Amino acid sequence: MEFPFSINQLFPERVSILDQTLVAGRKTTGAPHLQANIETVIDELGRASAKAQQLPASITSASKLQSQRHQLYLLKDGESNGGRGVVVGFLKVGYKKLFLLDHQGSHVEAEPLCILDFYIAENLQRYGHGRELFDFMLQHKKLEPVLMAYDRPSPKFLSFLAKHYCLTPSVPQANNFVVFEGFFVNRSVAQ
Ligand code: ACO
Repeated sequence: MEFPFSINQLFPERVSILDQTLVAGRKTTGAPHLQANIETVIDELGRASAKAQQLPASITSASKLQSQRHQLYLLKDGESNGGRGVVVGFLKVGYKKLFLLDHQGSHVEAEPLCILDFYIAENLQRYGHGRELFDFMLQHKKLEPVLMAYDRPSPKFLSFLAKHYCLTPSVPQANNFVVFEGFFVNRSVAQ
């Protein structure tokens, strides 16, 4: 994904972690136009992800990120676009209080880290970038994928999780979230 400004100037690292302040690895937000460009990137990524998932509206935008306690991992390729860099994709996570059904049909209250949105640019899918980003997040959070919950995972994402992490869906839930075999077994160890 190319932009009419330098991605390398906005995001110095290969993977940047953005939060409520939208700050990408800086102590202060810096010049206002840099902040505006970061907002443009996030809004554009959110729109592309919604389109890819055929959602009626974006679930990721700069204003949403500013008002929610979520974290967004952004992957760039710094070499492309004549050295200005391109955005490869993003992964958004956050904690959610959920009521989940376990194998006995009992309601279990949990607050797992959830995968809320995930997108790799169309022309860059199936090159391992999604795996790189997901692994980065797992290392950063020191978590196993089975301990997380997944908000309305798309067929491509379910295939991704089965292929890379051998995850198979567990008990069907009454909400949009999916948890995988092992979630209830390992939960007590993790929390
Ligand atoms: N069709 C089916 N499976 C796919 C596809 C596709 N077009 N693209 C990726 N996958 C799955 C497959 O398991 C694939 O393995 P295979 O090529 O051997 O079949 C595997 O992902 C490839 O792994 P990576 O290259 O590491 O993944 P990628 O960089 O393509 O990123 C992602 C995966 C994020 C799901 C990407 O395909 C994408 O952006 N899809 C569109 C948006 C989307 O569906 N996002 C998930 C939303 S749900 C949520 O966020 C909770």
